[in-house]
Amino acid sequence: MTLPRELHTERLFLRRWLADDRAPFARLNADPRVVEFLPAALSREQSDAVAERIETHFQQHGFGLWAVEIPRITPFAGFIGLSIPRFVAAFTPCVEIGWRLDADYWNRGYATEGARAALAFGFLSLQLEEIVSFTVPANLRSRRVMEKIGMTHSSGDDFDHPALPEGHLLRQHVLYRLDRPRFARQSAGLGG
Ligand SMILES: CC(C)(COP(=O)(O)OP(=O)(O)OC[C@H]1O[C@@H](n2cnc3c(N)ncnc32)[C@H](O)[C@@H]1OP(=O)(O)O)[C@@H](O)C(=O)NCCC(=O)NCCS
Repeated sequence: MTLPRELHTERLFLRRWLADDRAPFARLNADPRVVEFLPAALSREQSDAVAERIETHFQQHGFGLWAVEIPRITPFAGFIGLSIPRFVAAFTPCVEIGWRLDADYWNRGYATEGARAALAFGFLSLQLEEIVSFTVPANLRSRRVMEKIGMTHSSGDDFDHPALPEGHLLRQHVLYRLDRPRFARQSAGLGG
């Protein structure tokens, strides 16, 4: 199967990463608004290491967290895409949908628009049975995106993130799921 290398939406171009993305990615990862619900702001070196891991994931799996370009507005606004978490939990192995955008471009529907394209890629091109997403309970913006793209939360799936130590403020996570039949019904306009 030949996978599309990039995705186009009405306003976004989701593409593989370029060397020039690293500097704006580091600025975004140092912005307290962006990292509010992440364990810490990242140094330039840590940010570059994340970009490297994203590139390795693309090489290993043929898909990943695409760089988001907004034509005529900015060459790099962050990432949206699919990835395979490396930790072990009740719901792994799985494919996760995730996003991180420059705060200058929030609240314009970009994450939702890109995420819809990533979901379609996951279910139609990769033929996945299920896609999950997770965040901390307080990250209402991210949860709102999950809801807008048709994912559902069940409190029975809530989990403690194994990468964070017991007692860490961000350890508790909520899990959202969407399976292929439900995605197909939603895409056909038949509701959930
Ligand atoms: C999460 C994130 C990608 C959303 O990007 P975005 O392009 O602004 O998302 P959208 O515009 O598609 O949707 C945002 C929704 O959140 C809502 N929202 C914004 N601030 C909110 C708040 N404080 N409380 C509740 N909802 C909020 C918006 O109103 C919008 O919903 P609506 O369309 O129903 O009005 C962006 O905020 C981000 O990069 N955050 C930091 C990184 C992060 O937390 N990533 C997820 C880690 S799991």
